[in-house]
Amino acid sequence: MAAQLIDGKKVAADIREGLKKEIAELKSKGINPGLAVVLIGENPASKKYVSSKEKICEEIGIKSFGHKLPESITQEELIKLIDNLNSDKNVHGILVQLPLPKHLNEKEVMNRISPAKDVDGFGPDALGKLLLDEPGFVACTPHGAMKMLEAYNIDPKGKHAVVVGRSVIVGKPLALLLLRKHATVTMAHSRTPDLKDVCLKADILCVAVGKAKMITGDMIKEGAAVVDIGINVTPEGKIVGDVDFDAAKERAAYITPVPGGAGPMTIAMLMYNTVLAAKMTVGIKVEM
Ligand code: GUN
Repeated sequence: MAAQLIDGKKVAADIREGLKKEIAELKSKGINPGLAVVLIGENPASKKYVSSKEKICEEIGIKSFGHKLPESITQEELIKLIDNLNSDKNVHGILVQLPLPKHLNEKEVMNRISPAKDVDGFGPDALGKLLLDEPGFVACTPHGAMKMLEAYNIDPKGKHAVVVGRSVIVGKPLALLLLRKHATVTMAHSRTPDLKDVCLKADILCVAVGKAKMITGDMIKEGAAVVDIGINVTPEGKIVGDVDFDAAKERAAYITPVPGGAGPMTIAMLMYNTVLAAKMTVGIKVEM
């Protein structure tokens, strides 16, 4: 039986529509949500992501402050920019597009972003709060994955969730979010022995490794929900996920496509965090 498609594009559009209304209301009270978008160098993928983020900002009424800087920028100059953005009252969220060029210290840059403006949720404050189950910004990609499950009434409670991939910005926070929703969570990665056996136990299988077709159809439990967070470009220039979609959809009950799944959700959740950040600056109570 073919799986039901989890339409991330549609879920993201619904979230944006809700945000658009909230932003209009904020603006009527004199609050203009603003997002600083920092892009260093000429990485084509980064340029594309940044332009999508700026486009969505415009679509829903967030003011984006673009900072396109040359590859030659020094660490000191970049830190100075972050400090200026931290104290700029018109900027509620700061996004520094990763990866940074090799000569820059990515960790120092990301840690310099004020926790109140860390809408990516990559800093130690946001990640620490997630671990402590305290309110804070949740990293956009894992948050988007959870929202897709929620939109299709897939409740992690009582389910066995397997997260393949242990990155700080996707795999680890996603495992914590699934735990928060009472799933029994297994974390796996590229060095997990018998990965197939582990994946076959997953009622919810989330994959964020960055390797095309790493998860084959025979690794999917019948009736599972599959969330593919990989974005890979094939030699033919096609964008694909980490899961062999055509084979997996014959066994799964639900599956996210790539493109059109995790990608648009990541941007929607970035907008969501920016609106939260703007509300918090004026003391509006928010749920995180
Ligand atoms: N590079 C790839 N994805 C992301 C993201 O979600 N945020 C940032 N800052 N950089 C990225």
